[in-house]
Amino acid sequence: MLAAMRNIVILTGAGISAESGIPTFRASDGLWENHRIEDVATPQAFRRNPALVQRFYDARRAFLGQVEPNAAHLALARLEAEWPGDFLLVTQNVDDLHDRAGHTHLLHMHGELNSALCTRCGAARPWRGPLLGDPACPACRQAGGLRPDIVWFGEIPYHMERIETAIAACDLFVSIGTSGAVYPAAGFVSQARHAGARTLELNLEPSAGTPLFDEAKHGPASVLVPAWVEAMLASR
Ligand code: OAD
Repeated sequence: MLAAMRNIVILTGAGISAESGIPTFRASDGLWENHRIEDVATPQAFRRNPALVQRFYDARRAFLGQVEPNAAHLALARLEAEWPGDFLLVTQNVDDLHDRAGHTHLLHMHGELNSALCTRCGAARPWRGPLLGDPACPACRQAGGLRPDIVWFGEIPYHMERIETAIAACDLFVSIGTSGAVYPAAGFVSQARHAGARTLELNLEPSAGTPLFDEAKHGPASVLVPAWVEAMLASR
């Protein structure tokens, strides 16, 4: 079965970064680091209280300096480096742990903490420091227009055309560490099945999407992902 797989698309979510110390979104109390998601992750929230939203993402950006890729990130980077067929990693995560693990075929569909988007000129630029305090845009030099380059609820995710093209041509679709609660990512498994791909879920626990997958394995990503990568590479 594995030997027949050539083209792989992998979707990751917050669960793959949990063991690096980055909290997931949907904790059982429904709060995200003491904020309701609607208060920090919508364009309306940003218009209502830009300082609160900037402070929230500034803190998360700064926190990236305290975390490292874990065994699951490293295993996926190894798979990309050694896999003979097409490989695309699509992440919903805005952290940079996949980037630091080393990927060339990686798309951040929900944006990146280490990027700032100028609402005046439309440019997205690498950004490491805080955005609070209205710094000038590196592209147009105007102050007061920068926001986190994060896709908020109600906004359109990035790279959708490239992602859907890759899913239509994949033999295997794997979803790792995501609750399957947020569309369009939650719909990728159905698109992959429709395209005739085999589908696999690797998650800590059954997710909303589990019944849609051909196969599901449950446990921590740092254990499941390296074992699965090992099996994939052994099957070449
Ligand atoms: P969630 O917080 O909704 O789901 C995380 C999933 O990871 C859950 O199903 C957990 O069971 C699982 N999980 C937790 N720890 C794990 C571990 N150690 N190993 C494996 N799995 C583990 O996060 P996402 O599905 O990524 O959007 O959320 C999707 C989107 O909703 C996010 O990208 C974000 C959020 O609102 C935006 O910011 C636009």
